[in-house]
Amino acid sequence: MNILKPTDANITAAAEIIKNGGIAAFPTETVYGLGADALNPIAVAKIFEAKKRPFFDPLIVHIAELSDMDKITKRPDSKSLKLMERFWPGPLTIILEKNDNLPHIVTSSLPNVAVRMPSNNIALEFIKKSGTTIAAPSANRFGCLSPTSAEHVYSQLGSSVDIIIDGGQCTFGIESTIIKILEDKIYLLRHGAITKEEIEEFIKEPVVLDITSDKTEAPGQLPYHYSPEKQIILIDKITTIEERCGYLFYKKPDFYAPENSSKILSEKGNLREAAANLFSHLHYLDRLDIDIIYAEKIEEKGLGIAIMDRLNKASRKNNK
Ligand code: TXA
Ligand code: MG
Repeated sequence: MNILKPTDANITAAAEIIKNGGIAAFPTETVYGLGADALNPIAVAKIFEAKKRPFFDPLIVHIAELSDMDKITKRPDSKSLKLMERFWPGPLTIILEKNDNLPHIVTSSLPNVAVRMPSNNIALEFIKKSGTTIAAPSANRFGCLSPTSAEHVYSQLGSSVDIIIDGGQCTFGIESTIIKILEDKIYLLRHGAITKEEIEEFIKEPVVLDITSDKTEAPGQLPYHYSPEKQIILIDKITTIEERCGYLFYKKPDFYAPENSSKILSEKGNLREAAANLFSHLHYLDRLDIDIIYAEKIEEKGLGIAIMDRLNKASRKNNK
């Protein structure tokens, strides 16, 4: 397994691995993805194997150009097209009707496929050079913390991945927002890097929350997910520091907190910055020789909703 700089030659090498039915981890603006040729069911099966992901959990297919959609979907409805025009490339995933080319393993036999066009240039080059569309979940072990650096991918998946393209730290640091259009209404299935308000502001109609009613039994709907190994407890405000505990502050605390066991999401309380730091700070705290991680709750507004969604799910693992 190789961690490679994102040079032209290395992206070409990663694309060759995809063409030959292998799997490659690559950076996106949200989190690192673990990719395979979406049209090659055996290659896609390797993703499930490497992640230890159950086959009932469908994958997002990544495209580099609008014309790539013909390879995997039927013609999208006009509202989906409008949203693509505004938010692609970028962290919005849209559920569309799949066509017959796309193997069932990608969608867990659902008639719909989740599609997105990432904005990260390395990801776009990689998809283009692969000459296909790339099925890719986040490049972590199933249920564990999402990876926002190549090193996170390596530490969780190690030699089960053929290649990791190192694109540095992900800029958004939190997964894409997932929506689907049904009878002209927009439903939000997963909070993510694009807020519900941003979509509503653009489309000038309310977006309906559909976080729990979907029948796919996807991890987005499982009560716990995105979890560190350590127990994580959410509290309103951290006021004291104890031995053998790690601390995730939202803003800079007004008292002394030792740097080795404390991380601050954003000194001044910028939600964009907080989201970008969320998983990498949790990875850091999870590796400390401590028993518990205390994390401060964040106001559930704008991106704060997606951040709290990840923290809530992470905290439920050990408190089921
Ligand atoms: O930002 C992201 O979306 C990242 C990067 C790599 O693109 N990918 C990502 O993939 O977060 P994953 O597999 O970790 O999460 C995808 C979510 C899962 O909860 C899955 O159940 C849901 O999308 N999903 C995929 N296909 C679906 C479908 N056809 N219908 C409903 N949900 C679907
Ligand atoms: Mg994931």
